[in-house]
Amino acid sequence: MLREILIHLSENRLARKVSMSAPGARTVARRFVAGESLDDGVVATRELNRNGLTVTLDYLGESVSSRGEATAAADTYIAALERIAGDGLDANVSLKLTQMGQDIDTAFLRENVGRVLDRARDLDIFVRFDMESSEYTQRTIDFFRSLWDEGYRNIGIVLQSYLYRCADDARMAIELGARVRLCKGAYQEPESVAYQDKADVDGNFVRVMQMLIPDAHYPAIATHDEAMLEATRKHVEATGTPHDSFEFQMLYGVRRDFQNQLRDAGYKVRVYVPFGEAWYPYLMRRMAERPANLMFIVNALVAESPLRFLRRRRKDGWRSS
Ligand code: FDA
Repeated sequence: MLREILIHLSENRLARKVSMSAPGARTVARRFVAGESLDDGVVATRELNRNGLTVTLDYLGESVSSRGEATAAADTYIAALERIAGDGLDANVSLKLTQMGQDIDTAFLRENVGRVLDRARDLDIFVRFDMESSEYTQRTIDFFRSLWDEGYRNIGIVLQSYLYRCADDARMAIELGARVRLCKGAYQEPESVAYQDKADVDGNFVRVMQMLIPDAHYPAIATHDEAMLEATRKHVEATGTPHDSFEFQMLYGVRRDFQNQLRDAGYKVRVYVPFGEAWYPYLMRRMAERPANLMFIVNALVAESPLRFLRRRRKDGWRSS
């Protein structure tokens, strides 16, 4: 129930406006977002690389309805690709097609994403298309396949184990030789298309993981769920799969302990590092995944409430007088 409310709020414009201007909101966001600028994303990437973790950089943004905004988002991705190459970072990028113009028109989307992909290909950098709600699944896969047919090989997709169709899409990706990120799925989906129970979502995750490893081309297993991580490790050992033929992926600020443990055990781990000003829906989805994260909001709001701020100022004033 709380998950549904939080996901609903993630899509609500008024809630976004109010939340983003609330005192302490940015402090909360910083727990899951590297910062608002590309420089912030680069600083976080360098730090993670120093710790033996690779990165996928995500410029936050989705559901864009203006061409200007979508063009600017593509420009930011191109700048990010150039920083990755120029600064020698061990990173690639993840982008959302609705940020690139998927809701505007397909020709515009193709042109905008094409600019990013061409630059990425020149620089030998991989680009992942994040998967959004089920309204976009088929369109995203069709778009991906059309680019694949055009000859792009520096691209990959995301599959969500809560969708009934996940295994079919995995089969298609394995046949193509395309890279897949497997995750559980972060949106609110109806029973007509998605499993509703965690046990079913997890069961499907394990089933599809076992299809991808070892048959898919460099799959990514994206989860913080200890049971899913353990199932993957067991399967990898049982099939004798080399550790460098796949990677684990986790979100920035989530289960750093697992990220480090897996790295220490010799696995490849990539961290999804979001940056940008449009952090609200991303943050709300992280809250929905783990309502205990709401405590961060409460703490930050209390820490930065106007009352506390005034009290602190009065205290500072007394000290200096
Ligand atoms: P689950 O939600 O069952 O959580 C298991 C445990 O993990 C929790 O009990 C908690 O300990 C920990 N945990 C999970 N989320 C947490 C959080 N936010 N904060 C703190 N602890 C948390 N989704 C999507 O629809 N499209 C996409 O393109 C992507 N891309 C993507 C990339 C990467 C690298 C990751 C890791 C995830 C995504 N996701 C995604 C999100 C994904 O679908 C899913 O919502 C989250 O990963 C949470 O699911 P878990 O597998 O972690 O398990």
